[in-house]
Amino acid sequence: MTWEELEYLCHNCHNCRLGEARHNVVIGVGDRKSRILFVGEGPGYYEDMQGEPFVGAAGQLLDKMLASIGLDRSKVYIANIVKCRPPNNRDPLPDEQEACIKYLRVQFKLIRPEIIVCLGRIAAKAIIAPDFRITRDRGVWHNKKGIDIIATYHPSALLRDESKKRDAWEDFKAIRDKLKEKENEKGQNDEQ
Ligand code: URA
Repeated sequence: MTWEELEYLCHNCHNCRLGEARHNVVIGVGDRKSRILFVGEGPGYYEDMQGEPFVGAAGQLLDKMLASIGLDRSKVYIANIVKCRPPNNRDPLPDEQEACIKYLRVQFKLIRPEIIVCLGRIAAKAIIAPDFRITRDRGVWHNKKGIDIIATYHPSALLRDESKKRDAWEDFKAIRDKLKEKENEKGQNDEQ
């Protein structure tokens, strides 16, 4: 599938109830050839109005965290588990996630990232393991089909509880190091 086909399908999607009330489908933003993909939960009010992920308060914090490891939203790709806003910012329901995750899988195939970062519990449960517990299991690398995957706190959780920021900073340093490590591996392979 091409990006154009994916966009067409998403813009016309009514596979779950979230499609009924949306202002915009929020497909994703950033570099479609990025080595790293960040996945959140689902659009909030501002994202729904603007059609772009992470543009509200949580997004501003995410931008700062990306900057702290030398990245910005134009150099990474950012998407969500569901592409339409759940009412009153509730968690996306299991059937809504199931209806939408196939579009994210297409994005995985098109982008072919080396690293996936799950932002928060909903993304980690959907991508890493259904029994994932964010406080217990964040900051640990997993490998699936050759892709390195890690979960960290959702930026909204950090806005609610500042004491989580220290762990999140450790996770972001681990992400920076993993990117470097992979770059070095690639450099060595290119030399051989
Ligand atoms: N929270 C998310 O999980 N995703 C967004 O795009 C915005 C806020």
